[in-house]
Formats: sequence, C-alpha cells, structure tokens
Amino acid sequence: MKTIITGDRPTGRLHLGHYFGSLQNRVKMQYDYDTFILVADVQALTDNYDNPEKVRNNVKELTMDYLAAGIDPNHSHIYIQSLIPEVAELTVYFSNLVSVARLYRNPTTKHEVGQKEHLFGKDGESITYGFLGYPVSQAADITALDGDIVPVGEDQLPHLEQTREIVRKFNNIYGDTFKEPEAVLSSNPRIKGLDGNEKMSKSLGNCIYISDEYDTILKQVMSATTDPNKIKKDDPANPEVCMVYYYHKLFENNDLDKICSECKKGERGCVACKKELAQKIDDYLRPMRERRKYYEQHPEEVEKILKNGTEAARNRAKEVMNRVRKNMKLDYFE
Ligand code: TRP
Repeated sequence: MKTIITGDRPTGRLHLGHYFGSLQNRVKMQYDYDTFILVADVQALTDNYDNPEKVRNNVKELTMDYLAAGIDPNHSHIYIQSLIPEVAELTVYFSNLVSVARLYRNPTTKHEVGQKEHLFGKDGESITYGFLGYPVSQAADITALDGDIVPVGEDQLPHLEQTREIVRKFNNIYGDTFKEPEAVLSSNPRIKGLDGNEKMSKSLGNCIYISDEYDTILKQVMSATTDPNKIKKDDPANPEVCMVYYYHKLFENNDLDKICSECKKGERGCVACKKELAQKIDDYLRPMRERRKYYEQHPEEVEKILKNGTEAARNRAKEVMNRVRKNMKLDYFE
C-alpha cells in the first residue's frame, strides 16, 4: 500500500481554506493509503521560537480539528514531529544537498518572510537558518517515512519540488534510497476568503473555522463581499462576482440554478441569501463540531491517539534510517 505523509503547523485553528485545500482530500484518501499526518511542531517553532506555549497548546487543538474533520484514528496515524528524532537527523544529512541560493528562491518561504518583518527584518535581512531551511526538514518529514503521496494545498508545491530535488541528488550520490514523492492537490486547491481575497487566512480576518458556531458563521457570512453594483434588495446582480454565490457553490446542495437565476433577476436579496448560506455552512460543519466536542471532553483519547500515531511513525522512521545510514556508510558497528 502506498504511503501518505502530510500535516500542518500547530499555530491556530483550521479553517475552510485548509478543509477544501487539503483536509477533505486527506479524509477521503485515508481509506486507500497508509496515512501519516504530522503535527509539525518543529516547523511551527521556526517562526514561533519565542512562543513555545502557543505551539504546545495548538498541538492538541490541531489534532482535535483533524479528528473533527473526519481523520479516522483507525485509518490514519496522527503524530508529533518533534518526537521523531530520526527526522532531525535526516534533516542534517539533507542540508548538505541544498544550496543556500536555492533555499532563497523558494517562492513560498519568500512570501512568508515578507509577512514576518517583525521576526526576519525588512526584506528578510535577519532571516534565521532554521526558517530558511525548513523546506529541508519538510523533505525529511516526507522521506523518513517513505512517503509516496503528499496531499497539500497549493502553497506547498514549491516545498514538494525541493523535496524531489533532494531525493534525486541523494539517490545519485548514495545510491537508490528514496522514492520521489508526489503532491496531490484537491479539486479546489485554494479557496478565496469571504472578502474576495485570493486566500483565506487568519491574518486577513476572512475565515470561517471548522469549529465555528452558527453565530460566528452568520457574522462572517454577513461581512462577505457581494456585487458592488447591487444597491437595493431587488436590483438584478451578477452572482459570478459575489463571494456569497462562490460559497454557495462550494457547499452545493442542488439549489444553485435557483440561486443564480433569482439573483440575476433581482428576486433575491443579499441578506436572505447570506442567511441561507450561513445555514448551509452550519449544517455542513455541525457533525464536525459535534465530533470535536466529544474529543474536547475526552482529552485522554486525544493523547492516546497521538501516542499511538507517534509510535507507528517512529517505527517506520527507524527502519528507513537504518537504510539511510547504511547507504551513507554511517553504519559503523553493524
Ligand atoms: N509546511 C506545511 C504547512 O505549513 C506543514 C508540513 C510540515 C508538511 N511537514 C510536512 C506538509 C510534510 C506535508 C508534508 O502547513
């Protein structure tokens, strides 16, 4: 069976961008693949090294979001990155195979550095070795468990490309050791924020979180951008420029044609349309929220899931690293 490796940084709650970008795909795929989902606490520390509390608290929050979204602990191993020391070791070996210039060219890291002036200075002049190099440790996350498939959002593609380059170089020098992993994007690799921004993101305040209750969902949906040319409730409008319609499409339940034609004919007020959408999203998220509540009330189960998942990942990594050390001529006393 092929292996899936994927994960997220534990820095906050998961929102619909995460859900449609990759989570939904992972939930579907977990039944057909050997699935490992990492809580990337080491990577979260690369830009939160001064806030260990935040990372720690979010490890359980993220795990509960996964379980809420439908990651099934009987089919997937959820594990904590820092508890796999073999990954840290492999990161060191990989770091010889990547030039600093190549790391600077990674568009995702570059973009992130631009958003973190407070940490890395203007134009990233005080970027840390750890942050610049996190794609190398991500390559180790994937390869230390012999990952074949990596279901992620679009922003992760540059990291996957770097992983593949490292694998090719490693195999070239030390002999065939790793497979080149492949990214898998969902059918909606990136969903727009409620404000029409290309990305849903916490810092833009344009999110709906999968744990949000109805009142919050409604408040957020009410703030969504609609056709600016529609002034009065019965003005005809263009649904294609409306974020409410965009979200109706994502949560489709056979009423799209009706919504579209009513909107175009001026028979649909935005407030009513938004209320309908909020209800639709609420219905969709309710079972997730209920699962999450269950785990909030049973923290010992969450801990057990993480312990078991980590043990499974560690066993896999130990085997892979024996192979790596052998091929790198580091198997001294064997
Ligand atoms: N970079 C990913 C993110 O920001 C998290 C991550 C760490 C990851 N290691 C990974 C994703 C390995 C896929 C595979 O969300």
